[in-house]
Amino acid sequence: MHALHHTTMRWRAAGQTFAFLPTMGALHAGHLKLARQGAEMADHVLASIFVNPKQFGPSEDFSRYPRDEAGDIALLQTSGVDLVFAPAPEDIYPEGFATTIHIQGPAKAGLEDRFRPNFFDGVATVVAKLLIAADADYALFGEKDYQQLQVVKQLAHDLGLRTAIVGITTQREPDGFAMSSRNRYLSKIERHQATAIFKNLNQAAVKIRGGAKAQSATRAASRSLTTLGFKVDYVVARNAETLAIPKHQDEPLRLLAAAWLGKTRLIDNIEV
Ligand code: PAF
Repeated sequence: MHALHHTTMRWRAAGQTFAFLPTMGALHAGHLKLARQGAEMADHVLASIFVNPKQFGPSEDFSRYPRDEAGDIALLQTSGVDLVFAPAPEDIYPEGFATTIHIQGPAKAGLEDRFRPNFFDGVATVVAKLLIAADADYALFGEKDYQQLQVVKQLAHDLGLRTAIVGITTQREPDGFAMSSRNRYLSKIERHQATAIFKNLNQAAVKIRGGAKAQSATRAASRSLTTLGFKVDYVVARNAETLAIPKHQDEPLRLLAAAWLGKTRLIDNIEV
């Protein structure tokens, strides 16, 4: 943390702004897009690499989560990042660490929280610690993890942090499949099938824009994914800001989906 503060204090003393990009490494083109957007927004970009044990459930992929710190640092340096903060677990959670940040509202929307019960406590705790340590002008989060983005916005607002939370649109492969670190778990055949999530979300959005009821459009998308061999956790339409179940026709909507393909859990979301 000492080296981090030394550099960020120097930037601030020189009147320069900086954007912060928190990551768990295993970087892909989506992260690099975030880094480049940070470089356009601010004078400097700081990125962190930390695979946060607190946001993985006991049966999740913490131990096999892909790690390549040297490769990730090289990628970040070619994408406009000036400083990489890669703390050890004891830097973030020193002996005796006893705080957990527990958020309601968007963190209790019945989406990821329903299937990953401790996920947002773990995310909120580490993100709060990182945001406070970085004290950046902007922090960048991908819209791919849409519920996480709303949770982080709530956290920054509630804690009165000075950092502006900026959501960046999802980076997609040419067939529309959303980029993610976990995509590397997919076999070639699964990767080919996986594009159906985006396609079905898109079809549902088109139907809703054309006047169809959100619930019937998302149900049809869910049925179609099940027929294609996915094990669907949810395909739903929610209020785009609060993630609450929509009550009025003219609310801004977001369609969100999570489904298993073989042993890999995929999530995606789109604007209506
Ligand atoms: O989205 C991620 O990569 C992680 O959840 C984050 C925000 C870096 C916190 O560990």
